[in-house]
Parts: sequence; C-alpha cells; structure tokens
Amino acid sequence: MQATVRASPNIALIKYWGKRDEKYNLPAVSSISITLDEIWTETKINFSPNYKRDILTINNVQQDDTRRVSDCIDSICGEHRNFACVSSKCNFPISAGLASSSSAFSALVIAINQAVNKGYELQDLANEAGKASGSAARSMLGGFVELENKKNKIQINQLLQSEDWPLRVVIAITDSRKKAVSSSEGMKLSSKTSPFYNSWVKNQSEDIDEARKAILSQDFLRLSEISEHNCMKMHSVMWTSRPSIVYWNSATIECMHAIRELQKKGEFVFFTIDAGPQIKAVCLPESESKVVNILKEIRGVSSVLQSGLGQEPQIK
Ligand code: DP6
Repeated sequence: MQATVRASPNIALIKYWGKRDEKYNLPAVSSISITLDEIWTETKINFSPNYKRDILTINNVQQDDTRRVSDCIDSICGEHRNFACVSSKCNFPISAGLASSSSAFSALVIAINQAVNKGYELQDLANEAGKASGSAARSMLGGFVELENKKNKIQINQLLQSEDWPLRVVIAITDSRKKAVSSSEGMKLSSKTSPFYNSWVKNQSEDIDEARKAILSQDFLRLSEISEHNCMKMHSVMWTSRPSIVYWNSATIECMHAIRELQKKGEFVFFTIDAGPQIKAVCLPESESKVVNILKEIRGVSSVLQSGLGQEPQIK
C-alpha cells in the first residue's frame, strides 16, 4: 500500500486560463505544453489503517491543509479508504509560477493508482490529475503534449517525444515568494471581469492548430511567434481583469527585452510567462549558453535554472 513517483512540471506554450466547469475543474480552452526533466517533484504515498487522518508534508514541512490532496485520493479510491501519509519533495521553488502543482498532482495520481492497485488507464488518471489542477494532466506525458477539450472530459496526446526535438528551457527566477493570486482565483476573476475573456476562449483553437503544426514540422520560428503571441494574450486577459492581475515585475520585463535583443541577433529563443514573475526562455541547444549568460546578468534575476525536455512520470 505504498508507492513513490517522480514527475516533472510542464510549461504551457499555448496556455490554459479559465474553466468551463469548476466542479470537475475542466478547462475552458485546450492547451499545449512541454514537459521538463531536470526539475521534479517526488511524491511518496503510504496508506495505513493506523493513520487517523491524511498527513501531507511538502519539503519536510507538515501542511495544515490537506484538502486538495485528500479530495484527489477520495476521487480515485472512494471515501471508504485508509488514511494516507503523503510526502512530497521538490527541487525547485513552489507556488511561484513554476507549475509545481503540475508535477505534484501528476506524481500523486500515479502514486495512488500504484499503491492501491486501481488499474486506471492513462486518460482516466490524466482526468483525475486535471481535476486537482488543470495543468497537471499535461505532466502525465513527456515531450510535447496537447491537452484537448472533449465533451465532459479532457484527453492528452503526445505530439512529439522529447528526443524528437530536444529543446532547452532556461528559467530566470525573479522572485521565488508565493504568488499573491492563485491561478484558480485569477481565472475566476478573469472570466467574470475581463472584456477580452470571451475572445481569448474563442480564438484559442487557431493558436492550438498553429502551434501543433509548428511542433510537428519542428519549425522553431513558427513556434516562437505563436507561443509569445498566446502568452501575451493570456496576460492581456489577466491585466484587464478587475482588479487587474499583474504577475510580472520589472525584472520580468527586462528579461523579455533581453530575449527580443537575442532574437534580433539571430539566436533561436523565445519567452513564455505563467502565473508568476519568472521568465521561461525556450531555445535551441546552440543558443542556450548565450541565453543563460544574458539572463543571469539582469538585475533582479536571483538564479537561473536549466532544463531539457523530459519523460512521463517515473515510478520509483
Ligand atoms: C498560467 O493548472 O495551476 O500556468 O487548474 O486552477 O490548478 P488550476 O490551475 P493551474 O493553472 C495554470 C495556468 C498557467 C497556464 C498553463 O499552465 O497552461
């Protein structure tokens, strides 16, 4: 009745922002992401009749609120189950826009399935992960992943494996504190108040089609253009929410300009930004060292993480 699973976060190139069903946490839009490898969450779960309640530790610190994790276990195991002890470790900052929930919940659903021998199929587990955190469903596969909105569920498809197109990702950390507005709260606010929200949802399928074609043909410039455009559209929806949601700081903007300068010099790099102030620079391997050297010199960048693209979660 125990299992350990290591999973990596993913970074969306075509973003998810908004929900069409809050109860089942179904996204309002399809999305496309890349799964990382050097950064990860490792989750161990252990069920026992001796536990009086679920226990959750993150990086060795016991958490008071186990609700999201307990709901996820209930959803897979049913409510008549033993309590569990879940201990999760991350080798990167959590709750700072680095998609830690994506690695955490993808690792958790696979660990639960393994520990209690539920025999769930991948797509069912992806729906369970997505119910806990929308982006987590995409970390159930490696490489380039499309999350497709189906009628009452989602489906994940691998577009390319990581080895097919081994892009690199350089993450500039500009502030590793917990973000002020969670993704869920932000999405709720945007859907109710941003005048751009409906057109964001309506036009997403064009961006998905364009990015899918760019990925399948390994056309870096085409992928750069559509990814940056989609990222800026999502942030426009955030900025025009009332009250406005601004995840960027001045270093985020400096990094964007620096990446634009590198592009002008012919480097193969583009940026994307999620619900936090970190900049994620996606590049070809030959441009990586230039990207790292430029970003780490920017005032306000406290550290730089580097990663390749990785695999689906691994059972330990
Ligand atoms: C900006 O998956 O964290 O990173 O479903 O409410 O847990 P919940 O949201 P979450 O949102 C991720 C938002 C994003 C874009 C993306 O990853 O697609």
